[in-house]
Amino acid sequence: MANNKPLRRSRKQQSVDISEAQIAVHWREEGYFSPRAQFIAQANLTNKGVLKRFSLDKFPGYYEEFADLLDWYKRWKKTLDTSNPPFWRWFVGGEINACYNCVDRHLAKHKNKTAIHFVPETEHEAIQHVTYQELYVRVNEFAALLRDFCGLKAGDRVTLHMPMVAELPIAMLACARLGVIHSQVFSGFSGKACADRAVDSESRVLITMDAYYRAGSLLDHKEKADIAVAEAAKDGHKVDKVLIWQRYPGKYSSPTQLVAGRDFIVNDVLKQYRGKRLEPVRLPAEAPLFLMYTSGTTGRPKGCQHSIGGYLAYVTWTSKFIQDIHPEDVYWCMADIGWITGHSYIVYGPLALAASSVVYEGVPTHPDAGRPWRIAEDLDVNIFHTSPTAIRALRRAGPEEPAKYNHHFKHMTTVGEPIEPEVWKWYYKVVGKSKAVIVDTWWQTENGGFLCSTVPGIHKMKPGSAGPGIPGIHPVIYDDEGNELPAGSGKAGNICIRNPWPGGFQTIWKDPARFVTQYYSRYCKNPKSKNWRDWPYMAGDGAVQAADGYYRILGRIDDVINVAGHRLGTKEIESAALTVAEVAEAAVVPVADPIKGKVPDLYVSLKPGLQASKALADKVSGAVVFQIGPIARPRTVVIVPDMPKTRSGKIMRRVLAAISNHQDPGDVSTLANPEVVEKIKEAAK
Ligand code: WT7
Repeated sequence: MANNKPLRRSRKQQSVDISEAQIAVHWREEGYFSPRAQFIAQANLTNKGVLKRFSLDKFPGYYEEFADLLDWYKRWKKTLDTSNPPFWRWFVGGEINACYNCVDRHLAKHKNKTAIHFVPETEHEAIQHVTYQELYVRVNEFAALLRDFCGLKAGDRVTLHMPMVAELPIAMLACARLGVIHSQVFSGFSGKACADRAVDSESRVLITMDAYYRAGSLLDHKEKADIAVAEAAKDGHKVDKVLIWQRYPGKYSSPTQLVAGRDFIVNDVLKQYRGKRLEPVRLPAEAPLFLMYTSGTTGRPKGCQHSIGGYLAYVTWTSKFIQDIHPEDVYWCMADIGWITGHSYIVYGPLALAASSVVYEGVPTHPDAGRPWRIAEDLDVNIFHTSPTAIRALRRAGPEEPAKYNHHFKHMTTVGEPIEPEVWKWYYKVVGKSKAVIVDTWWQTENGGFLCSTVPGIHKMKPGSAGPGIPGIHPVIYDDEGNELPAGSGKAGNICIRNPWPGGFQTIWKDPARFVTQYYSRYCKNPKSKNWRDWPYMAGDGAVQAADGYYRILGRIDDVINVAGHRLGTKEIESAALTVAEVAEAAVVPVADPIKGKVPDLYVSLKPGLQASKALADKVSGAVVFQIGPIARPRTVVIVPDMPKTRSGKIMRRVLAAISNHQDPGDVSTLANPEVVEKIKEAAK
């Protein structure tokens, strides 16, 4: 029997605790900016008919337009199978290969065109231009190595821990050619974090590089592979082979020794596969293409599983119509391929459209804040894509810098965190020279591609707002009680998506139950329902919708902190702190930061009889860097005599967050230990 009441939640409710007043103070409604006529004249999508064609009553048929951008070995029989909610199956019966679509199919027309411009961080080092033909050759040879030297086949998982070099997309595409599921771990993550992901995905092979440049120094990266293999072994998992690319082919650039029989220099082994060509493996549309681990509300990251057909169709369509990529464009997304943005919008989307995609090795402000604009000028980049954190950092380091360069962007993207209207306007006026359109794209690792954004050739832009759902995406905002907020109400609530879409992840690797509870249970009115309309996807973000239909994303409603556009779970950092023997309890809170948006502060209490010291605080910080990586390093580790607690013993993170952000902690008299608050304030000074 249909039950119309929202599901009762046994776990702690996640609610939007951002008041309307706060929103009003921070960001008032901004005026519109219009795309230039020159942009519209060349744009891939200007016909408003798309908005009608992609209305909810036409769902899911309109998604065939996405899949039709790809080459299929066999056309799908069913666009969407909803028989087992919320495990949606897209393009069922279709057969496809992602590598074929990103490489082989472009050879006839574009083989001499650059597919990847690899820009080393060291500015005097030559840029490498990898043509589609060269990409084809290198992907084939590496695929042969994976198949014949490593014995990998469709469905096996491989962990990649690679920096931003051309060999990373080459390795991903080689996996895709075989149907091997790649799991790329952000190179800035620690060896231990890499191990956790290799263990969870049961990868027998780890692909890495000896070294790479970051902020002016050549970092030893191979040492992390040794840690990863050793830590995986502690968890009972054996990594058989470590494949090591050389940053400078022919020269080993790491001081770390090779382990005989386990470590192999890719450049050496590849010699056996010279000239090898492999037919792309025909795979079902719903076979997994890759796993991307991301942080959630527990101590363990979750492996988001993305499909071949649905995912590739989604990123190709959005790259073409939201990024406005044409084959002749030079496109630069400054994200790291170790995050979903890089997978979708450096590798798969742009290459499926035969564009030239820039892969930049290092930090944007190295050696100075003019670097990105010099690269853009040199390569004639006309589409640029980055995060608010990078924009804020470039603005602070060199507000006048972009004006000195002769670059011309037609289109710019911002992604990953809310962008303040002043920062948006600097991006628009100074970086884009008031000529480029901007899209503020809201989405998540789980989603595969954009959810909310303006269509650049159709909609006006509004600083601080992502825009409406993209064509085909139908968002809705619910309040904490499960009531739908009226459209355009300007009230804050939990943003959800009413309909499935092909880019959405298929499941959490080895944890389908968590997939259901985390994203669907809260607003599903009837868990027995076979009707997709009963299964809105809950994103975990607070949002408001203005009267014009544009959404403004307010930030996470759960225990996730968005640091510089990268997602960190507070529980993961807390678990890392608890690996230090002296630590009794740990609590992480987000602190506002002028550049990175948010940074973590870590509060710890010690086991009885132990004294706080700088050395101990450093040890805790070191443990976080070991377990996760430098991006999770707390701004401060505050050692407190006790945590502020409710009478039932729950840590009141709200009080700690107020202290870290120099705000009033409010009424603390109901705490079990109100006297500790002053002591914590003292310790945090
Ligand atoms: C979280 C997802 C896939 C993009 C890279 C981050 C926040 C993302 C925006 C935006 C405001 C944004 C949300 C979201 N976010 N884009 N345009 N405006 N907030 O992917 O690591 O999975 O993080 O990033 O809070 O839930 P992610």
